[in-house]
Amino acid sequence: MPVRTAVITAAGVGTRFLPISKSVPKEMLPLVDRPVLQYAVEQAAEAGIERVVLVTSRGKTAMEDYFDVAPELERTLRERGNAKLEPVEQAGRMTRIIAVRQPEPLGLGHAVLMAKEAVGNEPFIIYLPDEILLGEPSVTRQMLDAYERRGNAIGVVEVPWDDVSRYGVVEGEPLSDRETRLTRSVEKPPRDEAPSNLAIVGPYVFSPAIFGCLEEITTGAIGELQLTDAIALLAQREPVHAYRFEGERFDAGTPLGLMQTAVEIALRRPDYADEMRAWIKELAARL
Ligand code: UTP
Repeated sequence: MPVRTAVITAAGVGTRFLPISKSVPKEMLPLVDRPVLQYAVEQAAEAGIERVVLVTSRGKTAMEDYFDVAPELERTLRERGNAKLEPVEQAGRMTRIIAVRQPEPLGLGHAVLMAKEAVGNEPFIIYLPDEILLGEPSVTRQMLDAYERRGNAIGVVEVPWDDVSRYGVVEGEPLSDRETRLTRSVEKPPRDEAPSNLAIVGPYVFSPAIFGCLEEITTGAIGELQLTDAIALLAQREPVHAYRFEGERFDAGTPLGLMQTAVEIALRRPDYADEMRAWIKELAARL
């Protein structure tokens, strides 16, 4: 069955972005001139995903508004012949958004479970919006292909061993250069207990069996419903494999990471690259 639904979990508190995330969802912070959230939505739409289930929480309606049409704004821009009309129209017509709420931030696993009814009994892809993944073919395309080949697929990257304690880490048998049959994943292990340096960053492509696993697990390590625990259970029932995708990965989930990601993206944008490069050189000379 083809994957036609994406789930984007965007109901977290965004503690690392306080105080701005008090009133601006961290997913709406800008990478150049578009919100962090757009990168996942755009990639899903380009890969032929028909609808996006956005898991949100109170005070975050700006995310839904952004992907809705804006007739008055569009009319004004059209009358003025403004070049920004096209990106504004695009954002409003990119995909069908279905917003569901997570009433309390009870963890990533709990957020995914909130999408169960909207997804239905079919496979789906999950994005963590902070993870900006650039690849050619797109990381989404690579993950959907990985799912077609072997079933449940989890996007991973190699990270320095000193960083493994910040991630969910893969344990399993290598199947090929890029694929590992997963037996277990370990959430934020200390460096010397980590089974590998393959960090789970998503996207994840799962059969709907993951929902049953989420319902079965009780609260995990820090009182939240952990997706990694549900994946471990799923791996006992169906093959799950970690796929080390080809591409670049930027973490826009911290203030420093967001600033670095914005610069990296500006350097890839024809409309900003030259000025950005010139400024970075001039800045470097002053440091
Ligand atoms: P994070 O661990 O980055 O948490 O969640 P966070 O709240 O977004 O940010 P910090 O750590 O407080 O700064 C990983 C992903 O899971 C979602 C987040 O929105 C993010 O996309 N999430 C997390 C939820 O949707 N609900 C939750 O209860 C927890």
